[in-house]
Amino acid sequence: PPLSTLINLDDFEKVHASHGPRKANAYVEGASNDCLTLAANKSLWQKLWFRPRIMRNVSKVNTKMTMLGVKTTMPVFICPMGIAKTSGPQGEAALGAGAAASGIIHCVSTTASLSLEDVLASAPQHPFFFQLYVDKQRHKTEATLKKIEKMEQIRAIFVTVDLAVVSKREADERMRKQEATSVYSSRQKNVIDKKGAGLARTTGNFIDWSLSWEDLAWLRKHTTKPILLKGIQSAADAKMALQMGCAGIVVSNHGGRALDNAPATILILLELRRDCPEIFDKMEVYIDGGVRRGSDILKAVCLGARGVGVGRPFQCSVMYDQEGVESIAWILQDELETSMRLCGITDLDKVRGDISYLNTSEIQ
Ligand code: FNR
Repeated sequence: PPLSTLINLDDFEKVHASHGPRKANAYVEGASNDCLTLAANKSLWQKLWFRPRIMRNVSKVNTKMTMLGVKTTMPVFICPMGIAKTSGPQGEAALGAGAAASGIIHCVSTTASLSLEDVLASAPQHPFFFQLYVDKQRHKTEATLKKIEKMEQIRAIFVTVDLAVVSKREADERMRKQEATSVYSSRQKNVIDKKGAGLARTTGNFIDWSLSWEDLAWLRKHTTKPILLKGIQSAADAKMALQMGCAGIVVSNHGGRALDNAPATILILLELRRDCPEIFDKMEVYIDGGVRRGSDILKAVCLGARGVGVGRPFQCSVMYDQEGVESIAWILQDELETSMRLCGITDLDKVRGDISYLNTSEIQ
């Protein structure tokens, strides 16, 4: 379908499901086990209601924010996602160029399908974030950090901490098994079956499951860039991250792709507000998982987040190359501005942490 007929983020996921490569869809849309966390991430955003104010002259609105010192048109980053080329030929180059054209930031995954140099070259003047999976072979991670140290475009490192092992992604596994049935003899097929090796599991084998809090000192030795932990799911761990000197955290459950039955991210954000409200002033708090509307961005900011990450819809938009990525950003910008106007909010930065615009009674 022509790009102009896609008017919201769900449309992109639907078109990717119906017209995208089947293998890419199993990889992108997949989540763990019964996909309960995936569903909860999305549905709980919808249970948070606004308390709109009226008659406030909303002719001008400002959505600009700063994320880790980088000025953005709105507080959105493109989540790190592996092997974007499965969805479209430009892969991460479309995400990089699209983010730059829209004034938002792309966080490049360790498992990107293009080299980091090629992703950065898609927008040579624009800042990026880098997502790090620590490798079982630590010297490889050290080499990556050394390389990144010299890359001025990379402004922060998001260390992913919620995926000690790659979880069971059934859509992905079923796809691999179907392929195996058609390609291999039955004896070889059994070997693949036992491993349950979908695309995610095969690409994630290298992740170091021995990673612990002590390793932050080791990471610190190898980079001077701000370190954030991506995948914080409790107030206790958010406090630890602050104590250990992290520049920020991303409240995330990996889009429901790590532990199934992990809490919806909005519940974690509410827990942080209740149990450690001080952290919002002491470090930058981000959230991702199920963000699909401009109004969700507004809700996250009113709860204290400095910004949100959006995952799957952007990966799906790579089907339409850079233009698709820009289109998603434009839709979010438009929806965000509209919800701000209808809520009586003119400056996004000024309402950060102002819960008076929200009614959380249905989810608390
Ligand atoms: C991911 N995610 C992810 N996270 C990460 O830290 N490193 C990675 O390489 C990947 N890869 C990846 C691939 C794909 C296809 C998806 C969908 C997700 C998780 C991602 O960064 C983010 O946390 C979630 O996608 C956010 O949820 P939504 O917006 O997809 O609901």
